[in-house]
Parts: sequence; C-alpha cells; structure tokens
Amino acid sequence: MKPVTVRTSPSLALIKYWGKIPGGTNIPATSSLAVGLHDLRTTTRVSAGDPSGTDEVFIADEPQPAGHFAPVIEALRSHARSLGRTHADIPVRVDSENSFPTAAGIASSSSGFAALVLALHAWWDLDLPMHELSRIARTGSGSAARSVYGGFTRFAAGAEFAEPLYAADWWPELRVVVAVTDSGRKSIGSRDGMERTRTTSPFYEPWVEDAVRLTRLAEDAIAQRSLVTLGPLMRESYLRMVGTSIAASPPVLYWLPASVGVIRACDELRHAGLEAWETMDAGPQVKILTTMRDLPQVQARIAEVHGVQDILVSRVGGDAET
Ligand code: DP6
Repeated sequence: MKPVTVRTSPSLALIKYWGKIPGGTNIPATSSLAVGLHDLRTTTRVSAGDPSGTDEVFIADEPQPAGHFAPVIEALRSHARSLGRTHADIPVRVDSENSFPTAAGIASSSSGFAALVLALHAWWDLDLPMHELSRIARTGSGSAARSVYGGFTRFAAGAEFAEPLYAADWWPELRVVVAVTDSGRKSIGSRDGMERTRTTSPFYEPWVEDAVRLTRLAEDAIAQRSLVTLGPLMRESYLRMVGTSIAASPPVLYWLPASVGVIRACDELRHAGLEAWETMDAGPQVKILTTMRDLPQVQARIAEVHGVQDILVSRVGGDAET
C-alpha cells in the first residue's frame, strides 16, 4: 500500500467557540466563524503499521498517547470495514508535523485532527460526504470540524458538524500576522480551559447568550467583506471569551506581558488609520487580521513589541491538499 499524505491549515476563529453543550462530544455552546491560515500547514502521512502491533501516531517524531486518536481512527475504520476494504484491520502508522508551534494556541488540534480524518479517508479509499468528515473530525477536536474545509467556515452552536461559508478566495486581500510570544506548550489546554470556564465562571451564561448576536453581525460583515465592521466584533468575541475565562476559579489566563504589548500596538496602529484587528485563543499568541496594503507597517510595528519572539504571516484560505 502506498502511503498517503494530506496537508491542512489551522482554523483561526474570528468569532469563538468556547464552551460545550454538556453530555455531547465537542458540541459547541457558541457558534464560531473562522478562516483557514493558508501558509501554516500540518502535514500528515498515513502508512501501513506493524501488522502484529497497534495503531501508532507520531507528531514531530514523538509518539502520542493512543487513546487520544483512537475514536477518530476507529470511526473511519468501521466505514472501511463496512465497505470490505481488505486493509481495514491492518494497524496504521500516522506521522504528522506542523510548520508552526504545536499546542501553543495556534489551533494545531484543528489542522491535526482534520488532516488525520482526510488522510485516513484517502488511505481506506472511502467516499464519505464532507459534512460526515467534519462530524468525525469534531469528535477529535471541535475546531477540527472547521479545518476539513478551507476558506471561511461556520460551526453553529449545537451542531454536529461545521459548514463551509465561502471559498478560500472570497476575501483575498486579508492577511493574518501571528505574533508568537511564547512557543512552548500552553499551561492549560482549550478543552480543560473551556470546561473550567463553563462550570465555574459566573459570566459563562451571558457569554453564551451574547455570542448569538456577535455571530449574526459578524456573518454579515464577512458577507460584505467589511473589515471595519468585522474587526470590532472579533474584538468583542475574544475579549468576552477572555473575560469569562479569567473569572473562572482558578482563573484561566493565557496572556503574557508581550500579549498585552501587541494588543496595545494594534490599538496604536488603528489610531494611525491602519487595519489591525487582533484576536487571541487558548494561548499567549496574538493573531492580527489586516490587509495586504497595511501588512508591511503592521508587521514592522509588531516586531518591535518587547517579548515578541517570532512573527508568522499568512494569507487566508487553507484548502486541504491530498
Ligand atoms: C479558543 O477545538 O481546541 O481556539 O473541542 O476541546 O478540542 P476541543 O477544543 P478546541 O477549542 C478551540 C478554542 C478556541 C476558539 C476556536 O477555535 O473557535
């Protein structure tokens, strides 16, 4: 059997998924709207494993705990069995690597699980519809439901799978600057962070309620390709997510001094008439949505912020390649 290789991009939420409906597997309590980060890539290769062994997954050559990936692998394997694929029962070996820091709040779980699902789908020569692949990817990580599609996506509150909104070329002048303030692994993963927020933050319910309005308005802004409208909505989404999280007990706080430095630099850039709308996820990195025109100035200013270790620049899009 020839190995298969798939490339996917992390899904950057402009409007955040933060909180799950209890009792489901990564069913979001808030709708999210996202774009793929075209120039950041996860590359995943599936090949035949040791016939007398078990499935094995490696990220950057590091063996991963089997249980973490087993439900996703088994979901696809059962489709392979039902189609009578002769290699369905041969263990798989999965090798994955990221062109960006892993588990540091740059959504590596979104591109990672999406790539795993797409690669196994190709390996077992399945013919599942995209929404079914999104549904399986979601059981690995909620944001991965979005990453199986490129372009602009929506993952509605309460839904089992995400949907494509617009193709990768819908808004070609957009650029994302990722200010890396710490490339180490984050102290608390998004899974535990959002669950702690749900169960202990007094601001969790208002966050979930308000997210409905934000999603509706942001969807219109994306439809109109209006960054001046979308920017403030993005800011409300991530800051309200942060607000509810730091009110959890114990607090869920990902920010570093350099994160605040970047947020202030974005404010300065906007006062100078440039488009620089920041967002943050479950980590200290800051992602800034800007335009091709303003990119050089935004990049130069962010590089000056004390504590910024690296800057990654990406177009939006991020279609999977098989
Ligand atoms: C802040 O998808 O990593 O990046 O479903 O538990 O795997 P699990 O969580 P995950 O959470 C992503 C949270 C976020 C916002 C977002 O991507 O929408």
